Amino acid sequence: FHVDWDLMTAEKAGFDHFMLKEIHEQPKAYRDTMRGRISEDGRSVVLPELKITAEQLKGINRVHIVACGTALHAGLVGKNVIENLVRIPVETDVASEYRYRSPIITPDTLVIVVSQSGETADTLAALREAQRCGARVLAITNVVGSSVAREADDVIITLAGPEIAVASTKAYSSQLIAFFLFGLYWAQTIGSKNESEVAHVLAAMQALPEQVEKVLAQAEVIKGVAESISHHSSLFFIGRGIDYAVAMEGSLKLKEISYIHSEAYAAGELKHGTLALIEEGTPVIALLTQEDVYEKMLSNIKETKARGADVLGIINEGHEVEVAKSVDRQFAIPRTLPLLTPALSVVPLQLLSYYASLALGHDVDKPRNLAKSVTVE
Ligand code: AGP
Repeated sequence: FHVDWDLMTAEKAGFDHFMLKEIHEQPKAYRDTMRGRISEDGRSVVLPELKITAEQLKGINRVHIVACGTALHAGLVGKNVIENLVRIPVETDVASEYRYRSPIITPDTLVIVVSQSGETADTLAALREAQRCGARVLAITNVVGSSVAREADDVIITLAGPEIAVASTKAYSSQLIAFFLFGLYWAQTIGSKNESEVAHVLAAMQALPEQVEKVLAQAEVIKGVAESISHHSSLFFIGRGIDYAVAMEGSLKLKEISYIHSEAYAAGELKHGTLALIEEGTPVIALLTQEDVYEKMLSNIKETKARGADVLGIINEGHEVEVAKSVDRQFAIPRTLPLLTPALSVVPLQLLSYYASLALGHDVDKPRNLAKSVTVE
């Protein structure tokens, strides 16, 4: 009796690729990242790992979020989260640009660096530059004891577990959870949100793991779309507000592992030039989860449909009938608070890139030209 078994197969736990396994680990990653950080009564955030005092937090009047790639895209969501909950201006920056553009960093600036590995050279250099200019640095990282974790003044560890696939999935979405927690913690500390408002968001957050499971159960729908887009050489991801931030992550993921060119666009900006590229059959992935810009998004989708686009709508449950008139295919995510939707809407986009890469026969876990951790500037 012989069993053909190797360690890599064992670690994939029955999944064909690490990326697919890691996509499916997101409910656990969310639970682990939240565990112990929400009070027992569910009414406040507890972050004992932070050394920054309430007084210091009250003195912060601007935030810079600095990171690379997917971590930067989590930071774009983080900007929305902090500005919404704390009402303090947030800038986001590509880490490789940050220290060369002489950013305005004052002692009242909080610099947040985001890095799965905690070893990205550009992010580490940005952290050091921020500290040199007198700012306090908070790191959101997945690796305890990494360079970023060791050098930052404060650290929030995401508990996504080891991420092996080069394309980041569960680390990104756990970074979103970390931003939700930190934004709420800051809001409760300075009183920009009251206790019942914080409790309301926390209750919605605690429903996210189960909601991700529901999204994963519909993976076959996305598989079909992925197979059809794999025949195209270029496509667009569009959205408004926080959906635009998620669109950027969907586009990067697709480029990274399927090698199909794509662009993420703020939907309202299309008509200022890019609409010229939409022709018969151009695939457009449209995110329309934000109720406040829902009508605007529908008209942006119609602009692309009028030029022949083939549109997949990522929508909220309950909008199926109405949206069906404007899109070719749709994928509904469970209802949550508008600010939390990225933790759900990114999942179909991850699956889309995974299945497109698979359909094209690429090495999903180890895409060409890329490394898991970029330790050179
Ligand atoms: C993610 O899919 C990419 N491989 C890449 O953009 C990555 O997020 C980036 O290099 C930053 O890595 P870090 O989070 O380890 O700092």
